[in-house]
Amino acid sequence: MLILGIDTSCDDTAASVVEDGIRIISNIVSSQDEIHKKYGGIVPELASRRHIEMIWPVVDETLNKANIRLDNISAIAVCYGPGLIGSLLVGVCFAKSLAYVNKVPLVAVNHLEGHIFSIFLEYPALEFPFIALVVSGGHTNVYRIDGFGMYTELGRTRDDAAGEAFDKVAKLLGLGYPGGPFIDALSEKGNAEAIHFPRAYLPGSFDFSFSGLKTAVVNFFKDINSELRTQNSELIKDIAASFQSAVVDVLVEKTIEAAKKESVDEVVLAGGVSANKTLRSTMEKRAQKEEIKVYMLPPFLCTDNAAMIASAGFHHFKQGKFANFDLNPKAYLPLGSAYS
Ligand code: KG4
Ligand code: ZN
Repeated sequence: MLILGIDTSCDDTAASVVEDGIRIISNIVSSQDEIHKKYGGIVPELASRRHIEMIWPVVDETLNKANIRLDNISAIAVCYGPGLIGSLLVGVCFAKSLAYVNKVPLVAVNHLEGHIFSIFLEYPALEFPFIALVVSGGHTNVYRIDGFGMYTELGRTRDDAAGEAFDKVAKLLGLGYPGGPFIDALSEKGNAEAIHFPRAYLPGSFDFSFSGLKTAVVNFFKDINSELRTQNSELIKDIAASFQSAVVDVLVEKTIEAAKKESVDEVVLAGGVSANKTLRSTMEKRAQKEEIKVYMLPPFLCTDNAAMIASAGFHHFKQGKFANFDLNPKAYLPLGSAYS
């Protein structure tokens, strides 16, 4: 069964054809990084306008690469939230029109559900339950996943998402946008123990907080000599590495604690920040000690894509959960919300 997935939740226009929820036939992502990088962050209005320009070329290319026509598709799965409302609106309107004109069933997918269920693209035989850490530009959440549609949120960020903290610190340090990959790369050349930035462990909960850490980096940066504020200075590399290490320590510790408390020995990492090399290696090492197995995606499936939407859409299809043409996008959409 072939599902066409569409995601325009943020600043990537993405479409993909996935077979039986596990095999990627084609996968196209059109990035808007070039448009937003001069602003150091996403400009929502520019994002929506670019989605309008790119949605048809991206879907067309996806179908062409898969060498299929729309009448070979069993359903169109579209991400309807959470995300930027104007961006979501483009994908949802486009998917509704395409489904209506071609008489193809429509399926509504939560973006976070997409990130989590994309793990089956890499590990089709993975069994429930597992703990999922969804760590992206907009979210830092830990869930217990007992099956498709069976989600328990264990913790979430109380302020900034981890990816947001990466992006803001990268902007402060004069690195590129989006900041995560730049900090990831620069950290390899820095000393992660050079500066001790605060770690908010928030005992007694699985919640996260990164705003104190971000402020600590801002304050540290303010006090350093302006000649040292270049990408090549050892100090900037040390700041990047020390900041990254503070984020990673908290993400790893809280996720492992959650798995132990829930007596679950499988952990899934998803979302853009899960492409981070230090997060991946630290999580593996720490989990091994507790005999917990960690499942991770290749970097192109960590960041936003539509294969994840098609993959999660397959489960909706199997359960007969279809969307109507009155489907509306939702900027705020907790995982597990009933589609309405
Ligand atoms: O999942 P995603 O593509 O979009 C959202 O749903 O938000 O995540 C984007 C976020 C950005 O904040 C980006 O800086 C971060 O993921 N990111 C990384 C890395 N690659 C992407 N953060 C740290 N290390 C990376 N290698
Ligand atoms: Zn995402």
